[in-house]
Amino acid sequence: MSKGKKSRIALFASGSGSNFQAIAQSVQQGEIPASIAMLICDQPDAYVIKRAEQFQIPVFSFRAKDYPSKLEFEKEIVSKLREAGVDFIFLAGYMRLIGETLLNAYRGKIVNIHPSLLPAFPGKDAIGQAFNAQVKVTGVTVHFVDEGMDTGPIIDQESVKMAVDETRESLQEKIQGIEHELYPKVIKTLLTEAVMEGTKE
Ligand code: GAR
Repeated sequence: MSKGKKSRIALFASGSGSNFQAIAQSVQQGEIPASIAMLICDQPDAYVIKRAEQFQIPVFSFRAKDYPSKLEFEKEIVSKLREAGVDFIFLAGYMRLIGETLLNAYRGKIVNIHPSLLPAFPGKDAIGQAFNAQVKVTGVTVHFVDEGMDTGPIIDQESVKMAVDETRESLQEKIQGIEHELYPKVIKTLLTEAVMEGTKE
């Protein structure tokens, strides 16, 4: 990508989309030098779709079960992303493993946020896992995506102390508060400092 050109990014989400909202606001305020070309969502009823509509961001939503295989729906996603000129992908609560079709098309250009200090508590309900384990410290990780479940090189992390009277809900609130600050900040740094593969020109 040539210098000075704004990146076109896609956000992937499956649920409420509070991280989507934080990133979209940061883009709108001119803090992240990018435009959000598309939301990809695998749950057509998810609230994140309403948020995208409010920001007038195009949405591609699908149900995995309407396709014969992951290969087929990822082929369609890649073609939508190409059509929209997407350079980078940021997963924001997309609860699906990225398969080789997407990885091969966007290698080194897919980033995820996860609500624990990886490599601790990968997978689903990381906040609940940490809470049940009664760890004293947990947190948030932003990392590049590879074939694994919440593996891949770590870009940044922020920790959260578990209070003595912490509840599952209060922990979730703290973690999400951190996510909404950390993710836009990391995305800004990645896109501004040309750290992501293919941006060094
Ligand atoms: C976020 O906490 C995100 O870290 C997590 O899903 C939540 C989505 O919330 N992602 C994962 O657990 C990925 N393994 P949101 O829809 O309100 O942004």
